[in-house]
Amino acid sequence: MTKRNTGPVLELHAVQKRYRLGEQTIQALRGVDFTIEKGDFVAIMGPSGSGKSTLLQIASLLDNPSEGEVILHGMDVSKYSETELAKVRNQEIGFVFQQFNLLAKTSAWENVALPLVYANVSPAERQQRAQAMLEQVGLGERLENTRAQLSGGQQQRVAIARALINDPTIIFADEPTGNLDTKSGDEIMGILQNFSKEGRTIVMVTHEEDIAAYAHRIVHLRDGLISSDQKNGKK
Ligand SMILES: Nc1ncnc2c1ncn2[C@@H]1O[C@H](COP(=O)(O)OP(=O)(O)OP(=O)(O)O)[C@@H](O)[C@H]1O
Ligand SMILES: [Mg+2]
Repeated sequence: MTKRNTGPVLELHAVQKRYRLGEQTIQALRGVDFTIEKGDFVAIMGPSGSGKSTLLQIASLLDNPSEGEVILHGMDVSKYSETELAKVRNQEIGFVFQQFNLLAKTSAWENVALPLVYANVSPAERQQRAQAMLEQVGLGERLENTRAQLSGGQQQRVAIARALINDPTIIFADEPTGNLDTKSGDEIMGILQNFSKEGRTIVMVTHEEDIAAYAHRIVHLRDGLISSDQKNGKK
């Protein structure tokens, strides 16, 4: 199928997700319709257990829905094999996690360059692009530092640089400031805000009103369903 360049970037249609837990079945999503347009900056909010992370994992192609469709650029990717999905994820999607998820004994620039290894970019170009990306997040002086030598906020900036190195179509972030103090959290949001101003598409999960306030659109989940989807009135 060919990629479409107009219309929404991503559409979820009637998405349900059930988890099996021994004898028990947990219905984490109960029929979610969700559309992301190019340039959207979306915050997903809702109580603990309402399905935010589940929704993000399905939208970012890390997990399959139990029912429903996931359409990326007009292509139904819900039926893709794991190998096909891995390829699409590498090309189209950047992730930022609450726990940063950097490799421990690897320098900042090598962490950032990792997605380019899978994309078959030459070693020289990998290093040069990783360095440029780290400069963009204010870590041009920290290229050789490992995880243990960086603060939480700096580690998250490395993680953001890694998420963006492939020039993804969408950036997904699950509580990107959840493990950070207020000042580092605001710095991270400033960086995401700048990327949003460049026209990039960002979808993040957060518990915090202050963090959600950076987004242009706020989606609330409740018991596995979208209970509201509104423009951020302050933007
Ligand atoms: N791998 C799994 N196996 C079984 N149940 C799961 C799994 N992942 C999530 N769940 C369940 O699905 C529901 C939704 O979980 P999810 O992690 O999406 O919530 P959340 O809104 O992200 O919560 P939080 O704010 O606490 O991170 C919860 O009842 C949770 O216990
Ligand atoms: Mg969660």
